[in-house]
Amino acid sequence: MKTTPLAFDYQSTTPCSEEVMKAMAPYWTEVWGNPSSKQNRLGLNASAAITVARDKLAALLDISSQRLIFTSGATEANNLALLGHARAKALEYGRPGHLITISTEHNSVIQPLRQLEKEGFRVTELTPNSDGIITLDSLMNVFSEDTFLVSVMVANNEIGVLQPISEIASLCKSRGITFHSDAAQGFGNVPIDFKKIGIDFASISGHKIYGPKGIGLLIVNETCDVMPLQWGGNQENGIRAGTLPVPLVIGFVKAAELAIEHLDVHYKYLKDLRDQLWQGLNNEIPDLTINGSLERRLPNNLNFTVGGVIGSRLHKQLRPLLSCSSGSACSNGSPSHVLISLGRTTQQAEASLRLSIGRSTTLSNIEIAVQAISNVVVKLRG
Ligand SMILES: Cc1ncc(COP(=O)(O)O)c(C=O)c1O
Repeated sequence: MKTTPLAFDYQSTTPCSEEVMKAMAPYWTEVWGNPSSKQNRLGLNASAAITVARDKLAALLDISSQRLIFTSGATEANNLALLGHARAKALEYGRPGHLITISTEHNSVIQPLRQLEKEGFRVTELTPNSDGIITLDSLMNVFSEDTFLVSVMVANNEIGVLQPISEIASLCKSRGITFHSDAAQGFGNVPIDFKKIGIDFASISGHKIYGPKGIGLLIVNETCDVMPLQWGGNQENGIRAGTLPVPLVIGFVKAAELAIEHLDVHYKYLKDLRDQLWQGLNNEIPDLTINGSLERRLPNNLNFTVGGVIGSRLHKQLRPLLSCSSGSACSNGSPSHVLISLGRTTQQAEASLRLSIGRSTTLSNIEIAVQAISNVVVKLRG
């Protein structure tokens, strides 16, 4: 009998939770108006639902509702923050300036910055330490007179490491530099006090937190200018034109509410299982190399290199058993730029596994995965 591979890829996406789907249900059929059509009851009802949801999210995040811009996901939020803010600054100063990021960022940060390079901005891509974490000293070393933006993610999507964002935010603030952070993987998995940390721009994605796909959020500091990337209506304070997808907004806010409310319980559950997974794998295959710091890492992530095997064979043998990956879903299967930045060779990067677990993962799933991976590795090492 053919069995479905076990899900070990919850960092690429998560299933929509029952409660989220229930919250969204009336907004497909009953409250189906256009929230921008304020001249009729249908539109007003939809608009009221958005206002209630936005206010709820603002209260949950302890951030003014004026600062919340709904987008189609974290990719758009990252593009809007980076391109929109950089272009607004260039207009203000009459010239492009200097931006800093790290080489292990998601492509939705790296690629907009490469686009800005083509537009005349200088971009520094810092390489983190071998544990995947950036130091404040290395950041300070590359500041220059015209540095106006730093972008460093909360948590890495491949190796799960947590960057020192509070310290980076303070450093940027003391120099009047804007700080953007991609929180797509961190939000809902680790506590983040956006207000206390003082992040100017933060990006979040709905489908990473058991919400729907196609919705995300950009948190914006009102004092930071943003030039829109698309033009049309005056939605989202004129920063992001386009009719809001009401059911997705409702679902996103419900997912965020649940993620925040149950964060401690989920954190402990995931970390215990993840630690058992790592322990089990080490008992069976003692020479695995962990990628990134094990201590400063998301509770749901493991990423390691298997020596002495060919990556394509490893992944092919595992495919019927486990849904996992060697890196980001957005990398199109090319060797991970994150692992290469950590000093791994192409061959090592390909022979690496990112295992990410979720709320539905059980201890029995962990035991099966340990057995499946060790059997495949023994067979391939033959
Ligand atoms: C760190 C990070 N940033 C951004 C994204 C893109 O998010 P979305 O799929 O919502 O556009 C992802 C998704 O893989 C991610 O992991």
